[in-house]
Amino acid sequence: MKGYLKVLFITLIMLSMLMPLQAKAKDVVIKKPPESLDKFYPPLSKKPEFIIQMHKMSTNFGGVFVNMGEKDWENAVKRGEQLEEEYKKTSKMVPEWKDYFNLEAAASFAKAVKTRDPKQIGKASQELGKTCGSCHAENSIAVWTRYHWPSVKSIKIVDPVSEKELEYGKYMKGLSGAFKGVTVNFGENQYDRAGKALNAFQKKYIELRSTCSKCHTNDNVKQFFVGDNITAAMSNMKKELTSAKPNIGNFWKNVGIVGKQGCKMCHLTHRAYSIIQGVWEQKK
Ligand code: HEC
Ligand code: HEC
Ligand code: HEC
Repeated sequence: MKGYLKVLFITLIMLSMLMPLQAKAKDVVIKKPPESLDKFYPPLSKKPEFIIQMHKMSTNFGGVFVNMGEKDWENAVKRGEQLEEEYKKTSKMVPEWKDYFNLEAAASFAKAVKTRDPKQIGKASQELGKTCGSCHAENSIAVWTRYHWPSVKSIKIVDPVSEKELEYGKYMKGLSGAFKGVTVNFGENQYDRAGKALNAFQKKYIELRSTCSKCHTNDNVKQFFVGDNITAAMSNMKKELTSAKPNIGNFWKNVGIVGKQGCKMCHLTHRAYSIIQGVWEQKK
């Protein structure tokens, strides 16, 4: 009883510590970027113009401090002025994002550089830097999802069991069903059925290797998620199923390896962006 009360007490204290934090915490909303950004990215533009513009600002921003360190004030001032100019240009690129920019902060920074006073420069640079940071925090993931992460939507996979060509998501559902066929039957001591399901599951799983090259040019990636550790775990599962007296613990241990080092780790790497893309495509 005493131990139970102690746990309750500690839990309450921890909750009360979390409450104010939760009230203050901001939510991250991953909004689809405005369509006006499209024209600064391929295929509409030849080069990723928006990123090029970012590099211009960043180089001039950093350039101020490099020159300051060298006491090259002439170039530091030039960099500050160029930054103000590029910042102004950037603020006109995406009308929906104009409120992220603070043109006064850019002007104040350029002016501060002319004072040669590190304190004033530092303060003004923080004010300006904040405007970069808040747009990055709210929009980078959305922009990466929209313009950089390849979609699985165009990928088709031939199911080695049914020999039907399937969309990627449908294929995953089938793969997941086959995995359950293995674990459910094993849990019911129906080793014969579990063994048949395992054969189908293994074929479907290994077939995933054929999809990596749709996005990757380096074959080394296949050491992950679909590599030897996974095929070894499947062989171990099979060994238990065909033995006279299966080692139950060993079977589940290998199921865990496939589930965690295979499915889960691949989802952690690849699925987050896909989920966001999917939500954006849904009709409201
Ligand atoms: C209105 C929004 C916005 C503002 C303001 C903004 N940025 Fe960006 N920035 C972005 C987005 C979006 C990306 C991601 C672009 C991408 O990956 O395609 C980015 C990416 C970058 C990158 C990385 C580029 C790369 O190669 O991936 C740098 C560096 C950068 N910004 C510098 C700055 C600086 C410096 C400022 C302020 C002086 C600034 N940005 C202000 C939206 C903004
Ligand atoms: C729809 C496109 C797509 C497919 C299909 C895909 N990947 Fe990726 N994967 C990516 C992207 C994008 C990244 C991020 C970095 C990059 O481009 O390599 C990534 C990252 C990775 C990484 C992290 C290390 C690295 O190279 O960046 C591994 C490992 C990986 N993928 C393995 C695989 C394997 C194995 C397959 C096939 C079973 C696969 N991927 C299929 C798009 C894909
Ligand atoms: C090569 C990487 C990779 C591996 C390995 C992988 N998945 Fe997936 N999975 C994905 C991606 C990417 C998606 C998102 C598909 C989409 O958005 O259409 C996905 C989606 C899914 C879905 C949702 C399908 C839907 O459209 O509703 C399920 C269920 C699933 N996976 C189960 C599994 C299981 C179970 C395993 C292991 C036996 C596994 N996956 C292994 C990459 C992988």
